[in-house]
Amino acid sequence: MKNFLSVDDLEIETVANLITQAIKFKEGSELPKFCGTVVNMFFENSTRTKHSFEMAEHKLGLHTMNFDVSTSSVNKGESLYDSVLTMQALGADVAVIRHGDNDFYETLKPLNISIVNAGSGCGSHPSQSLLDMMTIVDEFKTIVGLKVVIVGDIRHSRVAMSNMKLLKRMGAQVYFSGPEKFFDESYLDFGEYIELDDALKIADVVMLLRIQLERHEDVMKITQETYHKLYGLTEKRYESLLDHAIILHPAPVNRDVEISGCLVESKQSRIVDQMTNGVYMRMAILEKIMEEKK
Ligand code: CP
Repeated sequence: MKNFLSVDDLEIETVANLITQAIKFKEGSELPKFCGTVVNMFFENSTRTKHSFEMAEHKLGLHTMNFDVSTSSVNKGESLYDSVLTMQALGADVAVIRHGDNDFYETLKPLNISIVNAGSGCGSHPSQSLLDMMTIVDEFKTIVGLKVVIVGDIRHSRVAMSNMKLLKRMGAQVYFSGPEKFFDESYLDFGEYIELDDALKIADVVMLLRIQLERHEDVMKITQETYHKLYGLTEKRYESLLDHAIILHPAPVNRDVEISGCLVESKQSRIVDQMTNGVYMRMAILEKIMEEKK
């Protein structure tokens, strides 16, 4: 694996191996140590992805460089290609990049430096998708046959785009719920739309999404309070979940909008586990890339 760009590029066997390896890391297996440099280039804000990649790099013995967009020559008109080419020329082995363009990585493929997509516009977020799969496998030992409902701002969510594709390929039964304006007929290739209160009664996994106001072209016509009442996981709706069901959310969470604030760390929530699992999954991804570079 030279690059890690999209779930579409990954064989299911590769996904399964990455999940197994990430779980082994979590269970305390001996850590490989690599000589090499990873540059983290975040053109959009991030808390979890950026810092979990940094932690993963640290645990694998890799040297980390953080490219500071705000003080870089990007402000003098330097293109993404030229910034990454420069990092390659300086000796970086891997560039972990978050960028607002859905396909930012297409122009970077000819470079020798390995590219890891850490979130591309509304397009894809493959490392989040893999850590979500890991969290599900950690809980249920399988994904096959599980009913997974994706709720909320699906239209603007790169996490939803990656997850609907990968979940279907891995044998889950996918449902969509939340405001119909965030649903698109193209999602029917992956699953069906279902009313939220019906979905919560049958779901093994409830995958909530943040409303991505920064990507909306129109102003939301309903208040956050109304959204919570109509489409949020309220304390009352939580009571209707199956006992074994788990709640996922890629975070950051808008507390009391898509989920009641008091449910973020509730018994059936795995939201904090997802953050922890992100470190181990990103270690597995970086290990696979560095192994092939040897
Ligand atoms: N889930 C996620 O991508 O979070 P950050 O935007 O904080 O990295």
